[in-house]
Amino acid sequence: MCRFLTMAVPGVGLLTRLHLYAQRRSRVQRPVLRLLSCPGTVAEDLRRDEQPSGSVETGFEDKIPKKRFSEMQNERREQAQRTVLIHCPEKISEKKFLKYLSQHGPINNHFFYESFGLYAVVEFCQKESVRSLQNETHAPSKGMEVAIPFRSRFFNLKLKNQTSERSCVQMSNQLPPSSKKLFEVLCDAESVDDQLNALLKEFQLTEENTKLRYLTCSLIEDIAAAYFPDCVVRPFGSSVNTFGKLGCDLDMFLDLNETRNLSTNKTSGNFLMEFQVKNVPSERIATQKILSVIGECLDNFSPGCVGVQKILNARCPLVRFSHQASGFQCDLTTNNRIALTSSELLYIYGALDSRVRALVFTVRYWARAHSLTSSIPGAWITNFSLTMMVIFFLQTRSPPILPTLDCLQTLAELLLKEFFEYFGNFAFNKNSINIRQGREQNKPDSSPLYIQNPFETSLNISKNVSQSQLQKFVDLAQESAWILQQEDLGGPSMSGNQPWGLVALLLPSGANRKSLGKKKSRKPASEKVKVLLESIKSNRTENFTNTNGKRNVSTQT
Ligand code: GTP
Ligand code: MG
Repeated sequence: MCRFLTMAVPGVGLLTRLHLYAQRRSRVQRPVLRLLSCPGTVAEDLRRDEQPSGSVETGFEDKIPKKRFSEMQNERREQAQRTVLIHCPEKISEKKFLKYLSQHGPINNHFFYESFGLYAVVEFCQKESVRSLQNETHAPSKGMEVAIPFRSRFFNLKLKNQTSERSCVQMSNQLPPSSKKLFEVLCDAESVDDQLNALLKEFQLTEENTKLRYLTCSLIEDIAAAYFPDCVVRPFGSSVNTFGKLGCDLDMFLDLNETRNLSTNKTSGNFLMEFQVKNVPSERIATQKILSVIGECLDNFSPGCVGVQKILNARCPLVRFSHQASGFQCDLTTNNRIALTSSELLYIYGALDSRVRALVFTVRYWARAHSLTSSIPGAWITNFSLTMMVIFFLQTRSPPILPTLDCLQTLAELLLKEFFEYFGNFAFNKNSINIRQGREQNKPDSSPLYIQNPFETSLNISKNVSQSQLQKFVDLAQESAWILQQEDLGGPSMSGNQPWGLVALLLPSGANRKSLGKKKSRKPASEKVKVLLESIKSNRTENFTNTNGKRNVSTQT
């Protein structure tokens, strides 16, 4: 029984809680309100017509993240502003290195990592220490090429005399595990639920990786500030929404709100002062112009930014580049606040219950393993759409109200399998997915996959997905449901040396399940599922009641 208790601590219904929250407004749920209380955020959007009332304790207070999204972002940004990135010589004594830097002020924390060289991320306690370090730093000695004199927070540390000391710094890992390592870890787990959690643990962003992401944004902000001194560069997407995996891209939003606000509402007596500005015909053109100069600036002056591409004619114009020292592939956008709002929404969902993240990570990994998703843009389902599908699925679980512990246990065990069954049989041809209301709706157009954008409700976030890609998703979902159905019959103890659970799901479709095929003669997946469903349907009446009078669906095919 305890097999699934690891995932089954309170709250399958927590997602439902957000849903509930919208429906049962009289029962104000204080912790959620706390999260949902920043102006101009998801929060405010959901809460707009909330009536204040006495708070009702829900028993889930400890599950709610301690910080609001904006609080967390501001705190991390402030930390990043006190932080420097240093390319170090291969042989370095950590102790001497820290002592040397401490001349500029106390150090709050630091870590080393490797990415084509050894790097150190050092966070001072005070911002002044960064300035002090910059003031003592030399321009690089002249070589054949001429250096552009740009004083960033990215340094190169050199040793005056070579040392024979052996480097013995501890490295922080920034990369996801190999499939081989992952499969080993998964095979050592005791249940499919353990496997889901193990996969989450192996792939989720580490504290260090998150720090490095905020630092990279902060370094880019320094560049953009040359044009827009009050700008903020904020990470969004999977870097901050709690669904990021090691190695995911770094989505950045150049926030010019402060700059824009400077020119409004400043009145004194009968006078109103405005900035002289250049005007352009549309918001889109303004965005393109801003990104174009920032792109040039990154390309020409920003150390470590390479492969800068200005993709200005995309639906959402962006500048794409690699930040070599951190190893991040970066997408910089502006005028894209809605994406920040979506990130906040996912942050709230992800924080409500650890199982949400475990399920999303697993479904994303499964989709990637079968090439349902790709890092190249195209007709594939995106990770973002997949995440929305998981959330929608969780919103529509039964029972929709906080369930008893017994129900929670059963649900935790079944979630992955049910996810595949649910979408393996979803009426994509006529229904759309509505996250805002947590229900299916008639499709407003003929897009194969229609997931309504919860904030711009006339848009489909998965408009790019082709019929064939959707069909591939459905076929694999059905096959995976079938495989997990077999696990129910056997499980790890019955598997011997055979891949089981997630490993069986993640192996490539053909070769993959040969070993499973040895156990049973295999029909094509869709046929098997059909047979299985038919069998369940036809046996339903006979098998639905066992001798104890309990409901019990036959699983024999
Ligand atoms: P990764 O694949 O790990 O990078 O996931 P991600 O969530 O960061 O996705 P991606 O980098 O493709 O997009 C970044 C963010 O942009 C997402 O988290 C969403 O907030 C937003 N976004 C992406 N695609 C869409 C879309 O089709 N419609 C809307 N409205 N927002 C999108
Ligand atoms: Mg991303």
